[in-house]
Amino acid sequence: MNIHYDIKEGLFHLQHEKMSYCMAVLRTGHLAHLYVGPPLKGPLQVSFFRVDQNKGLTAYPGPGEFGLSLGVERMEYPSFGTSDFREPAIALEAKTGETSLDLRYHSHEILPGKPNLSPMPSTRPHQADEGMTLEIKLFDALRGVSCYLTYTLFKGLGGIVRSARLTNESRETLNLKRLMSLNVDLMDQNWEWVQFTGDWIRERAMTKHPIRVGVQSIGSRRGASSAHQNPFLILKRPHTTEDAGEALGLSLVYSGNFLILGEGDHNGHTRIMAGIHPGDFSWELRPGDSFQTPEAVLVYSQEGLNALSQNLHRFIHQHIIHPKWHNHQRPICLNNWEATYFDFDEEKLIRLAQAGKSLGMEMLVLDDGWFGQRNNDQTSLGDWTVNLKKLPSGLKGLSEKLHDLGMQFGLWIEPEMVNLTSKFALDHPDWIIREPRREPCHARNQYVLDFSRKEVVEAIYEQLTALLDQTPVDYIKWDMNRNMTDVYSLALPPHRQGELHHRYILGVYDLYERLTQRYPHILFESCSAGGGRFDLGMLYYAPQTWTSDNTDAVERLKIQYGTSMAYPLSTMAAHVSQVPNHQTHRVTPLKLRHDVARFGVLGYELDVTLLTEKEKEDIRQEIKSYKTYRQDLLYGDFYRLVSPFDTHGHQTAWMVVAKDQSRAILGWYQVLASPNPPLSHLPLSGLDPLGLYVIDGTDQVYGGADLMALGLLIQPSYNGIHKTNDPSGDYQSRLVVLNRL
Ligand code: GLA
Repeated sequence: MNIHYDIKEGLFHLQHEKMSYCMAVLRTGHLAHLYVGPPLKGPLQVSFFRVDQNKGLTAYPGPGEFGLSLGVERMEYPSFGTSDFREPAIALEAKTGETSLDLRYHSHEILPGKPNLSPMPSTRPHQADEGMTLEIKLFDALRGVSCYLTYTLFKGLGGIVRSARLTNESRETLNLKRLMSLNVDLMDQNWEWVQFTGDWIRERAMTKHPIRVGVQSIGSRRGASSAHQNPFLILKRPHTTEDAGEALGLSLVYSGNFLILGEGDHNGHTRIMAGIHPGDFSWELRPGDSFQTPEAVLVYSQEGLNALSQNLHRFIHQHIIHPKWHNHQRPICLNNWEATYFDFDEEKLIRLAQAGKSLGMEMLVLDDGWFGQRNNDQTSLGDWTVNLKKLPSGLKGLSEKLHDLGMQFGLWIEPEMVNLTSKFALDHPDWIIREPRREPCHARNQYVLDFSRKEVVEAIYEQLTALLDQTPVDYIKWDMNRNMTDVYSLALPPHRQGELHHRYILGVYDLYERLTQRYPHILFESCSAGGGRFDLGMLYYAPQTWTSDNTDAVERLKIQYGTSMAYPLSTMAAHVSQVPNHQTHRVTPLKLRHDVARFGVLGYELDVTLLTEKEKEDIRQEIKSYKTYRQDLLYGDFYRLVSPFDTHGHQTAWMVVAKDQSRAILGWYQVLASPNPPLSHLPLSGLDPLGLYVIDGTDQVYGGADLMALGLLIQPSYNGIHKTNDPSGDYQSRLVVLNRL
């Protein structure tokens, strides 16, 4: 790992064992992007990457300049108005109405470690000096702005962490309209754009299309990163598979409105940029003020998508999630939501906890409905005081009873929201995000608090700490069940309303920061009606996320498969729920539900007091087995083998391999039976090629290399002429544990 600057060539070379990244200061002083790809050894010359080009209908920056147009070059951090006609990474307006920008190289520094971006979540070095950072200062003398581009290399990451900061060094106030975290101008257009798209209960479906000439984008203007588009993108070569080929991954460390934009230009290049969505954004930059973007993580793989994901997973484990939770053995929870919804009392919860405990569960999570008068979703958000009718011994009493049973206690909150009838909302009607003269839209009968205001965050903090100081809580599920409309803050002047979205998310981060500091022992799980805010910003504070409100095992195959592209299994909460499933009304075997949910943070969300003896025994056995393999499942290397997106959801297979390759756990799933199926082999991945593996529970021994070359014979059962023991060929799954001898 090295950052090299060749003064003669004006060429920066960020070198990593898996990747090189190059830029150069052109003769005009503009910073060009040269290269991202497989490691280059050097010596490098700028002439390897670019030559002067004279083209028709092209503008040139400055008199006498021909051959170097910013619209033809591949730019590192493009602006508009000075010969680049493509999408800019930065845009601002001076008081005079002038908007053009001409950022040229000023200076650079190479620093050990990385700067802290507080108050925003940002990647963490293990030790202060781990990693290396390059900071390049670009300057526009006329406009009086400095733009600092920051690049950090981490030892473990085959990639780069980037962000940008703009400082107003002029004497006038500027209106910042766009400042992206990252821009990369790739050399060609032979890429596929892979996005993770969906909605409530169908998050992160993987969809792809070839890069086309013109603009394509994903983003969110909902006030949260959203279930609809995840702030993560893969660019892959058309032939790239899970195991081979080139791919780039791009992930934002941000939970608010975002934009990831691609532009295929007329010269065969692909521009990719990512950052805060400029659509609803503006920021007043007074003289001396700076604006810092969130970070973007760019990873590169030459070895297919599994390697790309594993790289990101490792990175999230080491540099996003708080060290306190590294390799932490996540508790198996029993969540009461789908078991009781709002209809519970202490007695019922204790009965659930006792039954759960007897099956091996480790924590009871008390979900929505414990506060104010909340017996339905129309009331009480904002009043975080316990309902003593339901819970006569209070939260403290309940928590103590659970702890006495040997169960941890988890609690649901939704601190960013109010119902209008809550005392909190009635006392502070102006603390809601809304325009003053229009009746605001409701969603699930609730409204969003104006977290851009310090006093609002403070008031919620006070309520929550009053509660949490009294109550021994081990886990918090922090929910956010609506998106933002009527975006207006009564505390901001008209010309600064464009700051609200970003200020809001900074307020959320502030509350997370203060609560996680004050209660370092509490494990937070983030949630937004399921996986509506599954991003690196949230994972910085909450090491796990409620992956989706959809607990149907069949649907979860796609949701977890798509999610795994960016996020490790230790971040994905996955619950076994009852059938018929509450979201799809599908009836699947308990085995399938288990075999899917164990590839994540296993939990349960059903009335365990109503189970049959057989179901209880199955759950007991499953939990015992999950506990045996828990560390591998949460922190091993995850390999996707068969994609539900390639098989119309028909088949899925994936596996986890222990870090030392001594063990592997394979999950194979078939949603619908196929008649008279042929024999099929499933090639495995990630095993020790020299090792011998025994299939747990059998005396079959195979070589690691053979299992990866030929594969494991999987014979689906089928309910045809040759009857099997399976009642049906549908909804089959196999769980295979392989132990190295
Ligand atoms: C959201 C969550 C659910 C549950 C409900 C409670 O939908 O995703 O898991 O907590 O809210 O209202």
